[in-house]
Amino acid sequence: MSAETVVPLPVPGPPERTPVLSMRGISKSFGKVQALTDIHLDIYAGEVVAIVGDNGAGKSTLVKILAGVHPADDGGIEFEGQPVQIPDPTTSRALGIATVFQDLALCDNLDVVANLFLGREIAGVALDEEEMEREAWELLRQLSARIPSVRVPIAALSGGQRQTVAIARSLIGDPRVVILDEPTAALGVAQTAEVLNLIERLRERGHGVVLISHNMADVQAVADRIVVLRLGRNNGDFLASEVGYEDIIAAITGATEHARPLPEPSYPRPRRIGPLR
Ligand SMILES: Nc1ncnc2c1ncn2[C@@H]1O[C@H](COP(=O)(O)OP(=O)(O)OP(=O)(O)O)[C@@H](O)[C@H]1O
Ligand SMILES: [Mg+2]
Repeated sequence: MSAETVVPLPVPGPPERTPVLSMRGISKSFGKVQALTDIHLDIYAGEVVAIVGDNGAGKSTLVKILAGVHPADDGGIEFEGQPVQIPDPTTSRALGIATVFQDLALCDNLDVVANLFLGREIAGVALDEEEMEREAWELLRQLSARIPSVRVPIAALSGGQRQTVAIARSLIGDPRVVILDEPTAALGVAQTAEVLNLIERLRERGHGVVLISHNMADVQAVADRIVVLRLGRNNGDFLASEVGYEDIIAAITGATEHARPLPEPSYPRPRRIGPLR
């Protein structure tokens, strides 16, 4: 190999495996607003992929396409290597994609067990309360979740505990991919640590985890890979262990683009009015 040979940059993610979920050239507009343009995303089992970007970068739109809330205009989605359509939320869940939206959609007046199994009765005609309670404890134990009782109403739990219940609920049916939209946005320090811990458990269990977050400290603490969206386009795919805070921020804000010399403005420069003092 000569000294001039260009060595290709390593591609993030383990290339020898098939991604559990892939987006290929996904675009989506809302009327005149182009929310996503030619998005590519691979999610592998047992990794946490953080999706970051400024307000309006397209993160929630991307999540909603995977969750079956919005159809994509263009591009394709593959699940375990097979092309799939996700026309509605039921199809998304049936494929094995679980989404925990920011508002959690828990019922405050129902207890933890009822929320976990809401609308998903355990097989059998009648609901078996004892069995559901046992399964609820088992699920929370697997997640090392600190919930004092599964018979307290959701309203009595802290923000972190509510997030935990919402995540636990998403795991019923054993999805391959778990998408978390801003899971720590409303949480204090200790509760955030609890949820980050929970995300680690999800990775250990082999789920592919997609984490949407504005909090770079959380992202750097827990993500294996960091995917940056900017103005609805891919603007970086980094291994978390190899990228620094500054580089992520530069990709989010487009600071590297601004570092290039700006072209001369094509409009007339404003005339100075009055003398400079
Ligand atoms: N239902 C909708 N109708 C019209 N425009 C929409 C709709 N949803 C999103 N948009 C627009 O699409 C673009 C991307 O929005 P999106 O909510 O995906 O961004 P985001 O990255 O989640 O932002 P934030 O960090 O503020 O949550 C924005 O310009 C937004 O105004
Ligand atoms: Mg959003």
